[in-house]
Amino acid sequence: MSATTIASVRARRVWDSRGRPTVEAEIRLGEDTVGRAIAPAGASTGSGEALDLRDGGRALGGLGVARAVAAVNEVIAPALAGLDAAEQHALDAKLVELDGTPDKSRLGGNAIVAVSMAAAHAAAAARGVPLWKHLLGDGEPLIPLPEIQIFGGGAHAATRIDLQDVMVMPVGAASFSQALEWTAEVYRAAGAGLAANGKLQGVADEGGYWPAVDSNEEVLAETVVAIEAAGFKPGRDLALSLDIAATQLRRDGRYHLQRDGKVLDSDGMIRLMLDWLDRYPIASIEDPLAEDDEAGLIAFTREAGKRVQIIGDDYLVTNADRVKHAAARGACNAVLVKPNQAGTLSEAKAALEAGKAAGWGTIVSARSGETEDVTIAHLAVGWRAGQLKVGSFARSERMAKWNEVLRIEEALGRAARFAGRGALPVKR
Ligand code: PGA
Ligand code: ZN
Repeated sequence: MSATTIASVRARRVWDSRGRPTVEAEIRLGEDTVGRAIAPAGASTGSGEALDLRDGGRALGGLGVARAVAAVNEVIAPALAGLDAAEQHALDAKLVELDGTPDKSRLGGNAIVAVSMAAAHAAAAARGVPLWKHLLGDGEPLIPLPEIQIFGGGAHAATRIDLQDVMVMPVGAASFSQALEWTAEVYRAAGAGLAANGKLQGVADEGGYWPAVDSNEEVLAETVVAIEAAGFKPGRDLALSLDIAATQLRRDGRYHLQRDGKVLDSDGMIRLMLDWLDRYPIASIEDPLAEDDEAGLIAFTREAGKRVQIIGDDYLVTNADRVKHAAARGACNAVLVKPNQAGTLSEAKAALEAGKAAGWGTIVSARSGETEDVTIAHLAVGWRAGQLKVGSFARSERMAKWNEVLRIEEALGRAARFAGRGALPVKR
């Protein structure tokens, strides 16, 4: 028995930021060392993601997690008792083996990711170090450049606009603390601008403003105006960042931009985005084309990959093999890393490392359904991802993560290195 030997594993049902049930796992090592983590949940999911196990039926809209909780308590718990929580690889391999399916549908991605993350927390607690430090190993911690939503749309705002996230990246900030301060000013200015135009209508799922606008492009313009109104220079201080989430727009092989009354083929989408790149200070575009439009992703990356970060989310689903495949073909130049898309921390980290090996940008990301769990803040720092995407600058499930990075930056003091603009795979 070492200090990191697992004594017990248990799960409970808790609730996420959309009021939906989710899984919390708790791992005990000995008497009083505990690690705890909660699974997040997506709304615009890629088809290749690990599947959450949900109960189905009428109660809770079919989203119940009784089966996932039982999977932890009845299958995972007995198998993990006695293993070493500090051996993340072996533990995650055990979880994968116990599940036995390619999409984690037997035990549930939600059950598995909660346990995998809880083990890391428990091991860190046993060592008496913060999670980021436990994850870091050798090397210097890296404070991530944040990507922060100003407007939310797509599947997170009843398709009020087609674009899912219109965000800012404070590329000119000197520290994480300054990056958040600048973003707070821009978020305030955006809200004030909407209110002045009679368009302020609350917030979408991740805390960005509900986009009561007349076209997709209007949110790009509004964001630039907000950056200027807050006293900053668009592009130099804060750049725009978009998540098109284009898989959601594709039907019958074409892209449907409802708000603009347009139906575009892959080339049309590419031309539209190249036009936006010419006219707006955009530093990053995620899922510019659908997960099954690899030819489009390759063509767009050939056209724009030298001047903008192109992130694969639905297309890569935090999978190392997919990252290697995409890198070999020149589709994308950055990977979004969502632990619950992969299912285990080890698999998520492998996807991130594959991205780094390709010279790509790497972004640790939250989901649209989140909780007070702050694991991803530590992953971003400890894995030296360079970038962190959490949603907007409102709602405590988002602020909990931003505030956790602030604490880490403060604790590091002069040793804190802020990734800043250098985190982008494109230098300009
Ligand atoms: P999701 O969306 O968490 O709803 O899947 C987030 C994203 O597309 O990045
Ligand atoms: Zn996305």
